[in-house]
Amino acid sequence: MTDLLKGNIVIIGSGLIGRSWAMVFASGGFTVTLYDIVKEQVAAALEDIRKQMEELKKSGMLRGTLSVDEQMSLISGCSDLKTALEDAIYIQECVPESLELKRKIFADIDLHINDTAIISSSTSCLSPTKMFNGLKHVKNCIVAHPVNPPYYVPLVELVPHPETQPATVERTYDLMKKIGQSPVKLLKETDGFVLNRLQYAVVSEAWRLVQDGVISPRDVDLVMSEGLGMRYAFLGPLETAHLNADGFQSYCERYGEGIKRVLTTFGPVPEFSGEVAQKIDAALWDNKSSKNDQLATRREWRNLCLSRLAKLKSEIKYNN
Ligand SMILES: NC(=O)c1ccc[n+]([C@@H]2O[C@H](COP(=O)([O-])OP(=O)(O)OC[C@H]3O[C@@H](n4cnc5c(N)ncnc54)[C@H](O)[C@@H]3O)[C@@H](O)[C@H]2O)c1
Ligand SMILES: *[C@@H]1O[C@H](CO)[C@@H](O)[C@H](O)[C@H]1NC(C)=O
Ligand SMILES: *[C@@H]1O[C@H](CO)[C@@H](O)[C@H](O)[C@H]1NC(C)=O
Repeated sequence: MTDLLKGNIVIIGSGLIGRSWAMVFASGGFTVTLYDIVKEQVAAALEDIRKQMEELKKSGMLRGTLSVDEQMSLISGCSDLKTALEDAIYIQECVPESLELKRKIFADIDLHINDTAIISSSTSCLSPTKMFNGLKHVKNCIVAHPVNPPYYVPLVELVPHPETQPATVERTYDLMKKIGQSPVKLLKETDGFVLNRLQYAVVSEAWRLVQDGVISPRDVDLVMSEGLGMRYAFLGPLETAHLNADGFQSYCERYGEGIKRVLTTFGPVPEFSGEVAQKIDAALWDNKSSKNDQLATRREWRNLCLSRLAKLKSEIKYNN
């Protein structure tokens, strides 16, 4: 692991996710080079990062042991790819979600790195096979999919290409732990990875319940935030079941038939358009202030909740 402590972390793309990664790496004491094809974007990103860090500091939520100035001094901007990649040990790609664009960028990066640097993509749903096929350094390529906002939500899904070396997975895993994220390893790729597959299962059943007139949009959200979600912040669905009976086997014996009966009543894949979409959308605006104000206020509140939750979780950590 110590091998990744010497040399630069390079962030490719200084948008929403690139900025967050830069902050997370700097909070862990790593030097970071932030690259973007749009020169002005890099300057804007650095300014925004400082502003975000100062606000975090004020509210006592700045991560790591370094001060804002110390963390900022670890991050530098760059608008030349070749220069950015000098001394690169780990490259986190964060450009827009387009297979063509990402393939082009990986082909460029491939030319300028040595055999130990790791190329990692932040993609939410593109296939590692399609992104990394044919690269000289394919053994060093991996997906490290963060959750928005990564500063508050630590999960990172690691998804290998079929030719990714096990050592690449392990080194990336260790690096993520080192900066305070919570990595999980997918043993092979699957469409949507794991987080979105679980998320889509939930959102589609929420849709169907609203569509079938069983419950209102606001109430179905309460079922999660006041019910299931209370446990899910600490326990996954499998251990939840395990504790709800005398172990998971016993859960299956007790509840398996009932679960199967209910599951056979699930409807088809929703269209995600039309009347139901309108109904849910209308219900989620509070229409007291402008839509932009509502989104900003609600997101700020969400971030506050997530940071408090992160603090709580670190205080009552049990076993992992
Ligand atoms: N936003 C999310 O919630 C979220 C969550 C997890 C993963 N991701 C993934 O992260 C990636 C980035 O998403 P984002 O929301 O930060 O996008 P964004 O649009 O905010 O930022 C993209 C940045 O890439 C830059 N860029 C474009 N072409 C480039 C090039 N050729 N070289 C270098 N930089 C280039 C743009 O100037 C911009 O600054 C996507 O793959 C996305 O799927 C996003
Ligand atoms: C690759 O580059 C990094 C950063 O400069 C360096 O630490 C590492 O030793 C290099 N590895 C090889 C095999 O040249
Ligand atoms: C506000 O929202 C409610 C419920 O969604 C709706 O009935 C009402 O017409 C809306 N009011 C305004 C001023 O848009």
